[in-house]
Amino acid sequence: MRNKVIAGNWKMNKVLSEADQFADSVTASLPNDDNAEAIVCAPFPFLPSLVEKAKGSDLKIGAQNMHFEESGAFTGEVSPVMLKDLGVTHVVIGHSERREHFAETDETVNQKVHAAFNHDLTPIVCVGETLEQREANETMNHIENQVQKGLQGLSDEQVSSTIIAYEPIWAIGTGRTASSEEANEVCTQIRNIVQDITSENVAEKVVIQYGGSVKPANIDELLSQSDIDGALVGGASLEPASFLQLVEAGT
Ligand code: G3P
Repeated sequence: MRNKVIAGNWKMNKVLSEADQFADSVTASLPNDDNAEAIVCAPFPFLPSLVEKAKGSDLKIGAQNMHFEESGAFTGEVSPVMLKDLGVTHVVIGHSERREHFAETDETVNQKVHAAFNHDLTPIVCVGETLEQREANETMNHIENQVQKGLQGLSDEQVSSTIIAYEPIWAIGTGRTASSEEANEVCTQIRNIVQDITSENVAEKVVIQYGGSVKPANIDELLSQSDIDGALVGGASLEPASFLQLVEAGT
């Protein structure tokens, strides 16, 4: 039985006071359920304060990116060592916006996933197809490629602790959600790919999230699918009330 994992991805939103207010409000009302996990992946400047505010609660704090090197001449970058030192537990890797705007590739994703495990951070690895790829029937090949390359060289134990987020690019921030069946079809395929590169046991353990216009109105249906174990949520994770409703759906 896999946990339901709801992760908010705030992207480049909020200022520190708003982030703090969110944490105060969410930590006070988070449902107490061992089977549902709640994570907020926030911009770097908010992380120290959010980690502090989340102490003693079940809210976990993640970053939205990091470099794969531990330190050195990489102006503007943040290392896994820095994140771990702050008390961050998760890190989003290979979000489609980073692949599109910041030239991330399957190779850099793989380097970052290894770096995350080397520093005891849980990677949330994003994969997903464009509308053109879906219309050209290339979804499954594309996803297979991204999953295989992104997870290359990991031990079975590391793969089973990875969170994979399936985010069809055409459904991100568009209000257009993949139907729960469409989303589940790809999530099932991802589990099969994981099984092919590891084992059935590992595939049964790996948490697979769906992301793309998830909101309180559609979360129940998505979570009722056989292979959707949670959600990576942008817009609807910004307000405490809707974030809490999403977490509640996982309980
Ligand atoms: O990582 C979350 C994401 O890209 C989906 O964003 O706003 O469609 O929930 P949104």
